[in-house]
Amino acid sequence: METEIKTVTREQLIKGLNEDLAHEYQAIVMYATYAAMASGIHRPFLKEFFEREIPEELRHAQFLANKITALGGLPTTKPAPVKLADSNRAMLEAVLKAEEETIARYVQRRKQAEALGDYGLVNDLEEIISDETRHKEETEKLLRGIGEH
Ligand SMILES: [Fe+2]
Ligand SMILES: [Fe+2]
Repeated sequence: METEIKTVTREQLIKGLNEDLAHEYQAIVMYATYAAMASGIHRPFLKEFFEREIPEELRHAQFLANKITALGGLPTTKPAPVKLADSNRAMLEAVLKAEEETIARYVQRRKQAEALGDYGLVNDLEEIISDETRHKEETEKLLRGIGEH
């Protein structure tokens, strides 16, 4: 993900934003599914924790779909596949991995937006990167305190 970007076309940016959009839809499905599957003594808290992320990921998805159409592209309607997890800890680990990969994608997208001179998009992506970083950090804190169940 650390490749230097020299020339970026609008088509490449649209393709990248569609990849981001597929992963925002993935995040929505992932959080809704994990909220339903959380189990045991931690269920009430985890259910609320996962459900709380859904409106923010939906807001990211709506932003991306709007931006893709503004650039003349066609927004994807397909979520990237969601990995099922068989324990609360496995779900939190899957969430952490997804958020880390999402941040890396947005950092790359921010570079592309900057190379294209779309500073509005740079600013919007920075705000989304802050949201995803908060998701990642909250998940890390939870993982420090949860057992193997
Ligand atoms: Fe998101
Ligand atoms: Fe997120």
